[in-house]
Amino acid sequence: MKCCDPRDHHFGSKHAERDLARYQKQGPDRTTQILLDSIRGQDLRNATLLDIGAGLGVIHHELLQDTCSSATHIDLSSAYNDVAAKESVRRGHRERVEFIQGDIAEYEGTLESHDIVTLDRVVCCYPDYRGMLSTAVEKCGRVFAMSYPRNRWFVHLAMGIENLKRKTNGDPFRSFVHSPQEIRQIPESHGLRRQSVVRTPFWQIELYTR
Ligand SMILES: C[S@@+](CC[C@H](N)C(=O)[O-])C[C@H]1O[C@@H](n2cnc3c(N)ncnc32)[C@H](O)[C@@H]1O
Repeated sequence: MKCCDPRDHHFGSKHAERDLARYQKQGPDRTTQILLDSIRGQDLRNATLLDIGAGLGVIHHELLQDTCSSATHIDLSSAYNDVAAKESVRRGHRERVEFIQGDIAEYEGTLESHDIVTLDRVVCCYPDYRGMLSTAVEKCGRVFAMSYPRNRWFVHLAMGIENLKRKTNGDPFRSFVHSPQEIRQIPESHGLRRQSVVRTPFWQIELYTR
């Protein structure tokens, strides 16, 4: 099952509007800010960005200010795409962003390679994330950055409680914790080298270069 069937309410317009209001007030949250800082540490200019599972589009809203000249935003959720496009208009960079609503798996044959590819909190949407991660790294020309939940007992516990609440509320979305060693194998087997790892209590943020 796709994590975000448009009929699901987990990535619907209520959540999207709430997340946008929070972003407009507080800026990127901590995990995304760490990911942005690690990308900015590579000192790229006029780069192209592919953000997979882009949600609100925070990564391109930020990197179009100093690092990227254009961005491709792909997300399954039409609600998040609409809100992200609205924010792009407000920030004056709408014409530099291509919005694609759909499953990355359907675009793997047509999407071009981009300098930077990001996957912020998306591999945890699936029990089997391997195909999505392989596509992401195949499309990466220079820098690949991702975040995913840490494989710690308290993360499993917190996610288990969240998944139980979703089940009780009739929300079909579930999140998953994966082995960092297995995740790491995919970019490295595609010729990328891990340059940095930052851990918060809940998330692991990694940057790779080609
Ligand atoms: C937990 S949210 C993360 C959003 C954003 N990257 C962030 O960190 O704030 C996961 C996002 O991935 C999108 N998504 C999940 N599977 C996808 C797929 N196969 N193709 C495209 N987008 C996907 C969902 O619609 C959702 O917006």
